[in-house]
Amino acid sequence: MLIEHSWWWPVARVEDVGPDPQALQLLGERLVLWKTAGGDLSLLTDRCPHRGARLSMGRVQGQSVQCPYHGWRFGADGQCVAIPAQPGFTPPDSSRACAHRLQLAHGLVWAALAVPQHPVPLLKGLPDRRLIYGPFDVATSAPRAVENFLDTAHFAYVHEGWLGDAAHPEVPSYEVSHTDGGRPVIECYRAWQPRASASAQDGAWVEYRYEVLSPYAALLTKRGEQASMAQDSYVIWACPQTDGSCRLWFAQYTTDEHTPDDALRDFQLAIFAQDQPILESQEPKALPLSGSEAMSAADRLSAAYRRYLKACGIGAGVC
Ligand code: FES
Ligand SMILES: [Fe+2]
Repeated sequence: MLIEHSWWWPVARVEDVGPDPQALQLLGERLVLWKTAGGDLSLLTDRCPHRGARLSMGRVQGQSVQCPYHGWRFGADGQCVAIPAQPGFTPPDSSRACAHRLQLAHGLVWAALAVPQHPVPLLKGLPDRRLIYGPFDVATSAPRAVENFLDTAHFAYVHEGWLGDAAHPEVPSYEVSHTDGGRPVIECYRAWQPRASASAQDGAWVEYRYEVLSPYAALLTKRGEQASMAQDSYVIWACPQTDGSCRLWFAQYTTDEHTPDDALRDFQLAIFAQDQPILESQEPKALPLSGSEAMSAADRLSAAYRRYLKACGIGAGVC
């Protein structure tokens, strides 16, 4: 068992769970997420205990999911409830599919592959208006994606004219502190941004607060120095699919009550379209915790994040 199995990870957006079984990957495990006719969600290993076919290629039949190969049916708890080739036979417990823990939080479905030792991260005091963007399937590890979310030195290059200005690439000095649980925090980081948000008309000074929420999740809050600017909080939720691939969602919590959903979404999609090619170009895909990558003083938060991953004993997606 990996230590990551005892954490909750996001696997899907609640509203994206439809009538068909959905194939997912978490920490290299193939899973199937499906909803019973009664509306209960179920997460099973995506492998039929009979001959190993993918349950996600089957279909939901009332309160069960049916394997596409010989039609065996499994309930939400994984119990085999019917073997059509043997009508009247009560399937034994050994015919059970492997069921996993799930819960709903923050608009997402969360899964744990072993007894959870850590709760889903709490979000406190955020604005009520929430938008969730994604999923984005990215060909890099979850910690590479989270480190990029925490990185400000790329703004002037990757987000030139948006979150940064090539004439001012300098990163002002900042302090990293830690929560009681040892999660890295920057209470205040100040940046000049040509276009800080979907509704921005001009450049503005913006104050950022960063907080690592869990090994593969982080929160940032942006406030303009002009009181008229909205407060925006963004969370990156990363699902570690494999050591070299992740699925991301970005949640935005905003006090902006005027900008339409589409405009907010288009802004975030434009920003992430700038990040994704860079993220996918990084080698190795796993995040080096060994000290093999060069650091500057501008990378203090990255360094603190890497130390935190080490302290958590994280082994997936790092090297
Ligand atoms: S492999 Fe699933 S029913 Fe045979
Ligand atoms: Fe970026």
